[in-house]
Amino acid sequence: METFRVQSREFEYNVIVGTGAWRSLRDFPLHGYSSVFVISEEALWCRWKGEFLKEAGLRRVQTLWVRPGERSKSLRVMQRLAAELLLRQADRRSLLILFGGGVIGDLGGFLASIYMRGVDCIHVPTTLLAQVDSSIGGKTAVNLGATKNLIGTFHPARLVLSEPRVLGSLSRRDFRSGLYEVVKHGILDGPELFGRLEQSLSSLRRDLAEELETILAPAVKVKVDVVNRDEREAGLRAVLNLGHTFGHALEEATGYRRFLHGEAVAWGLLGVSRLGRRLGLLPESDAGRIDELVRRLGPLPRIDDLDARRVLPLLPQDKKAVAGKVRWVIPERIGKVRQISEASGVAVAAAFRDIQKMGNDPT
Ligand SMILES: NC(=O)c1ccc[n+]([C@@H]2O[C@H](COP(=O)([O-])OP(=O)(O)OC[C@H]3O[C@@H](n4cnc5c(N)ncnc54)[C@H](O)[C@@H]3O)[C@@H](O)[C@H]2O)c1
Ligand SMILES: [Zn+2]
Repeated sequence: METFRVQSREFEYNVIVGTGAWRSLRDFPLHGYSSVFVISEEALWCRWKGEFLKEAGLRRVQTLWVRPGERSKSLRVMQRLAAELLLRQADRRSLLILFGGGVIGDLGGFLASIYMRGVDCIHVPTTLLAQVDSSIGGKTAVNLGATKNLIGTFHPARLVLSEPRVLGSLSRRDFRSGLYEVVKHGILDGPELFGRLEQSLSSLRRDLAEELETILAPAVKVKVDVVNRDEREAGLRAVLNLGHTFGHALEEATGYRRFLHGEAVAWGLLGVSRLGRRLGLLPESDAGRIDELVRRLGPLPRIDDLDARRVLPLLPQDKKAVAGKVRWVIPERIGKVRQISEASGVAVAAAFRDIQKMGNDPT
């Protein structure tokens, strides 16, 4: 088990990663709170509540349900939860435990940040994506109509508990989708984590906690380090967007229905690997290793049928730049990325064509 310290603007908190992480709740000063509420999905909570409550040493908690799925990240659901909290007499000293994936974390974190002008929350992430990414750093959000994460706040957790065993009940596809984000962290981190992924990735299983822990902890550290240096995304935090530029455009072009988020990021990683090569920034050998690792993880939903003329205009534009430039995060080698906003449209379109030609089966 490893503990990482995160510095947020107002306080520091621990991110605890590894088998037995839930037990750390016993050391947390719960007695300072008037009541404890768990926000989760019903089936997920029913599957894990016995183990969680026992290990965490919790006796009585009140539970609030959210339906699984991205659609729950809405103002309507947020309002319903706030009304339920009020009905059950939650006050400013209540604590919310957010037990779930990124949807529960983003929605519950947003609720925690505005209910009675803010109550404390603890993240207990239950997906790989939430463990290595969304539970750390304090970003919360809900969607407005089709616009993802339009409304949100910064509201870091008081504690994050990432237990690898809980990933054992994830669907194979959700697990793999999270692994692509882990690959992204490997590219950002450098040869050590990347090499470890190359050795173990295809044999990693979601129900083998000990083995998972060896990649989980370093992947969490990548996010923690970035957040510690740049909590509010002044510049450095943008490196976490590696693979997300093409990724977001693909998600939007397909109405968020075809890809799980990590799958779109996987295509995005392949895309920037091609773009880096075309721009002469990324050596062939490193590009090959990135492609190989992403492709080894398994088949991705197809992109060869998508019209580039529809996808490319959806590339997210840098809000701070003039003339709607796209800000790219391009790998220069494994362990080093560069942010650029001068990639030519021709090179970008060519890189996209390259990945469309790859087909969706692993090589
Ligand atoms: N705040 C941030 O910094 C940040 C960063 C990245 C992503 N996000 C957000 O995270 C969300 C995606 O998160 P996600 O991929 O965790 O999605 P999710 O929360 O929808 O979970 C994916 C699926 O797994 C199920 N599930 C969760 N834990 C399980 C378990 N242990 N066993 C079985 N099933 C389980 C859920 O019911 C759901 O069907 C998006 O809304 C995205 O915008 C936020
Ligand atoms: Zn992501």
